[in-house]
Amino acid sequence: MNPIDASRPLIVAHRGASAEAPEHTLAAYEAAIREQADMIELDVRLSADGQLVVIHDERLERTTDGRGEVRGYTLQALKRLDAGSWFGRRFQGQRIQTVTELIERFRDRVRFAIELKEGSCVSPGIEERLVSILQIYDVTDQVLVLSFDHHALRKVHEMDPEIRTGALLVGRLLSPERLADASIQALCLQAGLTTEQDVEACLRAGLQCFVWVVNEAEAARRYAKAGATGLITDRPGLIRWALANTGPEA
Ligand code: G3P
Ligand code: CA
Repeated sequence: MNPIDASRPLIVAHRGASAEAPEHTLAAYEAAIREQADMIELDVRLSADGQLVVIHDERLERTTDGRGEVRGYTLQALKRLDAGSWFGRRFQGQRIQTVTELIERFRDRVRFAIELKEGSCVSPGIEERLVSILQIYDVTDQVLVLSFDHHALRKVHEMDPEIRTGALLVGRLLSPERLADASIQALCLQAGLTTEQDVEACLRAGLQCFVWVVNEAEAARRYAKAGATGLITDRPGLIRWALANTGPEA
């Protein structure tokens, strides 16, 4: 695994290197690691039989050849679906992954940003299942758990304070310091609504600051200059290059 380079933001591959390969597939995550991402981001939902599966949408249509809601299918049924062809024929046969599969495969190579798409108000027990997997695989210190459901983050923190949490927010913040809470270590802010001053205010409040989704060199350099902790990107290779080079894109 790459050591953390404190002189620049962490590069977090959003759904894998999702500009180059179908999001959340092994192809996308392998590409992210080839491009030297520091972390891989994954969106998590519960299957009908209570397994933690890695998929963004509530429904299957956009990124698989299935139909209906993810939560309506068992893991066995989800595993039959093609999660690659929608992106390109050469990705045919890519499968939906579970959190456990990704951790087992990648834990020696990369850190994880794991987003709970829903907390226990929608999917009872989802926080307990995630914390249990992170503890069993002994990766609690290499994971940041994200969610728009900040109650879910508090639950995770209460179950295991070693697991870092990041609150996802959409909006122009008036005062990041008011969002500080013992159960949250980072704010994850949407790029279009986030200025360099917001990043600095977040850091002053003692919170780490991740910005999503940053796919352009110039924006990456601006947020890096402001001290952003991490940049969540579909293009980890480009952003890594942009932070190491000051000139125009190659
Ligand atoms: O990691 C932050 C970002 O992934 C949140 O939005 O819709 O891409 O899951 P979304
Ligand atoms: Ca996400």
